[in-house]
Amino acid sequence: MQHEKVEKNLGLMTLLILFAISFGGLIEVVPLFFISETTEPAEGLKPYTAIQLEGRDIYIREGCSVCHTQMVRPLRAEVERYGPYSQAGEFIYDHPFLWGSKRTGPDLHRVGGRYSDEWHKVHLYNPRDVVPESNMPAFPWLFENEIDSTKTAAKLKAMKLLGVPYTDQDIENSANAVRGVTEINALVAYLQGLGLTAKR
Ligand code: HEC
Repeated sequence: MQHEKVEKNLGLMTLLILFAISFGGLIEVVPLFFISETTEPAEGLKPYTAIQLEGRDIYIREGCSVCHTQMVRPLRAEVERYGPYSQAGEFIYDHPFLWGSKRTGPDLHRVGGRYSDEWHKVHLYNPRDVVPESNMPAFPWLFENEIDSTKTAAKLKAMKLLGVPYTDQDIENSANAVRGVTEINALVAYLQGLGLTAKR
C-alpha cells in the first residue's frame, strides 16, 4: 500500500528519488573532505620560491600544459618511464593544478633534476638542437624578456590567501628575488623543482 502511495504521488516520488541520488553522491564525496592524505602536503613539499612561482606563470602563459601533463598515472609503463606515480599531497601548493590532459609531449611531473639547466635552455631555445625529431615549438623570446617584478608580491599574497604558507618576509623579499631574472631562468627553476618530493 505504501508503495502505491509513492507511485501515484509525483511530488513525493520526485523527492524520494532526489534523496536516493544525493545520498549515493554524498557517501562518495563527503569522506574526501576528511581524508588527510588529500588535504595535507606530501612530506618535504615546499612552496614555490618567488622565481619558481614566476616560472610557473610563464609555463601557463606559453601553454606548456596544452601538450604536457603533470600527472604520472599508476600504470606500469608510466612508472617505468617517468618514476613514482603522482600523489594528491604533492599538488597542495598548486593553484590552479596543471595536471593537463593532452599528452603530445612526455609527462613533466618528474622532470625535476632529470636534465641539466643547460639542457633545458638549449631545448627551449630550439628543441630540434637536442631532439632532432621533436615537434615541440621553440621559445626564443624567453631569453630576452625579464620577469615583471611589480606583480610578484601580489602573486605570493594571493597564494597565501589560498593556503600556501608564505611568511610576510617571503612576500616582502619576493620582488627583489625576481628582479632582473630572465623568463628562461625562472621557467627552468620551476621545471627543476617539479616532482622532487616522491620517494624514489
Ligand atoms: C605543441 C606541443 C608542445 C608544447 C606547446 C610544448 N611542448 Fe614540450 N615537448 C613536446 C614534445 C612532442 C616533446 C618530446 C620531444 C622533445 O623532447 O622535444 C616535448 C618535450 C619536452 C621536454 C623534455 C621532457 C623529457 O622528459 O624528455 C620538456 C622539459 C618540455 N617539453 C618542456 C616544455 C615547456 C616548458 C613548454 C612550454 C614553454 C613546452 N614543453 C611546450 C611538445 C610540446
